[in-house]
Amino acid sequence: MDAVMKLLKPGDEVISTNDLYGGSYRLFTKIFEDFGLRFRFVDMNNVDDVAAAIGPNTKMMWVETPTNPMMNVVDIAALSAVAKAQNILLAVDNTFASPYLQQPLTMGADIVMHSATKYLAGHSDVVLGSLVVNNDELHERLAFIQNASGAVPGPMDSFLTLRGIKTLHVRMERHCQNGRLIAEYLEQHPKIEKVYWPGFAHHRNHAIAKKQMRDFGGMLSFVPKGADKATAIAIIEKLQLFTLAESLGGVESLAGHPASMTHASIPKTVREESGVVDALIRLSVGIEDAQDLIDDLEHAIG
Ligand SMILES: Cc1ncc(COP(=O)(O)O)c(C=O)c1O
Repeated sequence: MDAVMKLLKPGDEVISTNDLYGGSYRLFTKIFEDFGLRFRFVDMNNVDDVAAAIGPNTKMMWVETPTNPMMNVVDIAALSAVAKAQNILLAVDNTFASPYLQQPLTMGADIVMHSATKYLAGHSDVVLGSLVVNNDELHERLAFIQNASGAVPGPMDSFLTLRGIKTLHVRMERHCQNGRLIAEYLEQHPKIEKVYWPGFAHHRNHAIAKKQMRDFGGMLSFVPKGADKATAIAIIEKLQLFTLAESLGGVESLAGHPASMTHASIPKTVREESGVVDALIRLSVGIEDAQDLIDDLEHAIG
């Protein structure tokens, strides 16, 4: 992401989603704004709002889909049409989907970013990023920036990621299967208020998810009924198979509390506007036995 932002110059503007991974928001607003880049955060569910936000200095759209942690899905092809009409770059953070579930370049994106730390490497033992482009000029420019300014992967990280990728398709199928079973389990639970998972027919972006994704992935978020921060944390602490951790996309199931962890650097009012309330719990569903995971949740939710 650091390399992608260095394609731009002071005064250039980036339009991004108002429901963005906290670390991306932090990089944009706390680092790159100091170098003169400008960021506008809009609700990307409405393509007309995105088009209306484009100004003379807009040079890029930075899209995340599905979003972390609210699981919103944005229409990549529709945004690509807007970006192309205005001659601006479309970059997509494809971390939650992985290339197995979603391939934004085929829908018109110019740059795809994966946190390879997650599904690509798949075993929570690497921190690595990856960019994918289908344009030689952009490739050369990004490779130049990468070489000139430092984010060069180490050989061990590269080895672990290449080894992980060999099982990506098998892992993703199991992540999706387990994700579906857990989403359905939580959805019918009397103590659960709301479950965010794009595979539900009633999810606000289900039709788009069905159109652009092969399946719905292993990430989901939920809010227990009448819960506050303390209750949500108490549930997470009772889990025995799900480990409390920030990361995601590994073979082991993880549970997180976005408001105090991944999204803590987003001001409370901004974060709550997009649904990241204090009671929200995020799950990265791993590839363990689904019934064991459900039993663990049943024990913790009580
Ligand atoms: C959607 C998304 N993009 C990017 C990142 C950054 O990943 P890394 O841990 O490789 O810096 C994360 C990490 O949680 C993420 O969830």
